[in-house]
Formats: sequence, structure tokens, C-alpha cells
Amino acid sequence: MGARKRATPEAATAAAKPPPPTTAATAAANSTTDPPIAPPKAGQILTTSLIFFVPYAYLIFSHYNIEPDLKRSILINSVLSSVAFLVTLSMIPVASRYVLRRNLFGYDINKKGTPQGSVKVPESLGIVVGIVFLVFAILFQHFNFTSDSIWLVEYNAALASICFMILLGFVDDVLDVPWRVKLVLPSIAALPLLMAYAGHTTIVIPKPLVPYLGLEILDLGWIYKLYMWLLAIFCTNSINIHAGINGLEVGQTIVIACAILVHNVMQIGVSSDPEYKQAHAFSIYLVQPLLATSMALFSYNWYPSSVFVGDTYTYFAGMTMAVAGILGHFSETLLIFFIPQVLNFLLSLPQLSGYIPCPRHRLPRFDPQTGLLTGTNDGTLVNLFLRQFGRKSENSLCILLLVFQALHGHLLLLLFLAEVVPGWLVQMRWQLKRKQSLVVTFQRYYLTG
Ligand code: UD1
Ligand code: MG
Repeated sequence: MGARKRATPEAATAAAKPPPPTTAATAAANSTTDPPIAPPKAGQILTTSLIFFVPYAYLIFSHYNIEPDLKRSILINSVLSSVAFLVTLSMIPVASRYVLRRNLFGYDINKKGTPQGSVKVPESLGIVVGIVFLVFAILFQHFNFTSDSIWLVEYNAALASICFMILLGFVDDVLDVPWRVKLVLPSIAALPLLMAYAGHTTIVIPKPLVPYLGLEILDLGWIYKLYMWLLAIFCTNSINIHAGINGLEVGQTIVIACAILVHNVMQIGVSSDPEYKQAHAFSIYLVQPLLATSMALFSYNWYPSSVFVGDTYTYFAGMTMAVAGILGHFSETLLIFFIPQVLNFLLSLPQLSGYIPCPRHRLPRFDPQTGLLTGTNDGTLVNLFLRQFGRKSENSLCILLLVFQALHGHLLLLLFLAEVVPGWLVQMRWQLKRKQSLVVTFQRYYLTG
């Protein structure tokens, strides 16, 4: 079980012959000896999240002129997501007791040598997030879709893929499948979506690349389905291997989810094509509950983690974002939000391909005297950051990596600037003459091009 696969080398040896977890006596003993998990850091998380929620609400309710029906659906989804946040927050301590009873726990490797390093941390709490997400995503159908809606097929296929991924992630957490098998799991889970997909097979070329490629839309035919499949495999695995320090798995998901939501609202705000708007709204309906439930998990997983998320969560989050990108028809843009994961994947290639030996954990080295992490030679972004920026505490390293992640949410804007600034400066002089707002010019130029 989890304890066997997750422990540090010493703990792993100790756990190689764990007491049988299934007997009532063991269960009772565990439940009395394991202290309850630390309270959530929900206050801090919610306060920090205002940096995102205030401008997000402003965009939806004031800045753009979004149709009342669409606004209503987004609002209903937000209310359901808020309830999902509260349910997840209250369910995690309960589920933690249950997983500990079944010996599904891990040791915090980056605390090894300190008292915290020998605490059993409940593992796979992503299962709570996944289930609550599914319940609320299913309930949302009642408020939004009519029984003959063509969206229902794709929505349910998306949920089937996400559900399948949660199942396989949990199987991985419990059975600890070999690394190469892990890579295959998302390819199975993506099948429901691939088989039900009846949408277009074209991709929109990002605006800055249009002059170089000479076209705005590219029809890929069957290759598009192959691309969707590879995207789902990439998103899930890339979140899972950019991991191992407290808060990083959930933190990166939260940052990407915020970027996706803002992107969707901006696209809805500037478009006049109802189908295009629906596609982006569809993505919002999936990502809002993902963000809300992930924030609840983050409240327990932020440094020092009182629960671990497990592969259940990393696969679930990766699949949900892949599905949101595919069905929202912005998978190329999604890859921009995933640039840190792409970098981490490229750094990992020599070890993933077996060219260089790949240990079970590719984590930094922790010094219990100073409490600082040092980068090792394992090919990960975490190690690269430590080698470049020097030794760091676990939480400051996580913050640095999340800031780096957030910068890529703005990369679209930077690409835009690189493309339009010369032309824009010329326009600016003209606009100033006409005493028009620069901000309006800028937005029109960017958003409607
Ligand atoms: C992936 C990485 C592995 C990394 C691990 C950390 C690859 C090929 N695999 O493996 O290098 O070590 O994720 O999640 O890149 N843990 C901590 N602190 C944390 C989070 C996790 O110590 O903040 C440890 C715990 O012992 C936990 C275990 O990592 O039980 C979870 O590992 P798991 O998710 O099973 O590893 P993989 O996804 O297989
Ligand atoms: Mg993992």
C-alpha cells in the first residue's frame, strides 16, 4: 500500500513488512495512535486568493458586456463551486482518518531527520477532491443544460474521462504501479472523451505566430484526435512529475486554473460568435469547481503539509485541465500555461527515457540542521531552481516556483506586446491626438486584433 511505496529508504525498509492493515485490531490501534491532522490554512489561502477573485469578478460582471444567461450560468457554477470548497474542506480530515487506518500514508522526505519527518502524513487525499468535484459537476448539469443539449454528450464524456482518471490514479496510489505503466494510465482514461468527441479538428494559430506560418486556422483531421490524446497524457504526467515539495502539486494547478479562467472570460468578452462563447463557458464550468476544490486541498497541503495529494490528485487535475482546454478549443494556449511543466519534462527526459538512471524520488537534499534544501543532479525544475538561485527553505522554493508558473499566465500578454508594440506606438500617437483612452486602444488591439 501507500506506506510501502512512499517511505524514505529507512521507512521503506521498515514498511516492507507492515502490520496487516485489514484487521479490526490494527485499524483500532491506528485510529487511536494517529493524532488528527493540523487545521486547514483556509483563512490565509482565501485572503491570498482575493488577488485573483476580485479582478476575475470585475471582468465578468463589469468590464465585459456578457449576456445575462451566460453570466447566470457562470454565477450558478461559482455558487456550487463555493459549496464544493466547503464540503472538501470538511471532508479531508474525515478521509485522512480512513486512509491512515488503511496504512495509506507517506513520510515527508524534505523533513527527514527532523521530528516532522517521522510523522505519517495521510496520502491520496486527491480522492476527496475528485469525488466532490464530480458530484458538483454532475449537479451543475441540472441548472445549465436542457435534455436535448448537444453539449451534454461532450460534458458527460469529459466527466467520464475525469472519473476514469481518478480511479486509475487511486489504483496507482494503492498499488504503486511501475513508472512506465504510470505513463500509460492517462491514455486509457482519455478514451471516453476521444470516442465521444465530435467537435472540429482545427487549431487556431496564436496571433504572434500567424505572420510566420501564413495561416490563422489549421485543419489537422485525424491528427487532431491523436494530438488530444497526447495532450491528455502530457498534462496529467507533467503535473505529477513537477512535484515533491509541499504545496507544489496543488499550487501549480491553482495557478494554471486561474490563468485558464481569465483567458476564458476574456475570450467570451470579446467574441460575438455564440458557439465560440459556449466552448469557453464550458471550460469555465469545469475549471471553477476544480479551482475551488483544489483550494480546499491546498489549505491542508501548503507547507507544512498535513496531507499529501497522491497521484489521484495530480492525474485528476491534469486530466480536468486537458479536457477543459480541448473542449474549450484553446489547447494551444493551454500549452503556454504549461510551459514550466514542459521545461520540467524536457529536463526529465534523460531519466524518463532510461538514458540516465531514474531513482524512485528525484528530490532535493534536505539539511535538517539548517532546514534548507540543496539541488541535486536529478533533472527537475525544482533542482534546477535550487542550483541557480541557491539553497532555499521548502516554502520559499515553492513560492518561487509558483511565481514562475504565474508568469507564464502572462506570457500571452508578452507575446502580444512583442508583436504589436511597434505598430501600437504609431497608433498611440494617433490615438492621443484623438484623446482616446490608451487602455481602450490597447485592449481593442490585443483582444480583437
Ligand atoms: C513523482 C516523481 C518523483 C517525486 C515524486 C514526489 C518523477 C519521474 N517522479 O513520482 O521524482 O519524488 O513525484 O511526489 O519525476 N512527498 C514529499 N513531499 C511532498 C510531496 C510528496 O515528501 O510535498 C513524497 C512523500 O513521501 C509522498 C510521495 O512523495 O508519499 C509521493 O510520491 P508519488 O506521488 O507516489 O511519486 P510519483 O508520482 O511516482
Ligand atoms: Mg505523484
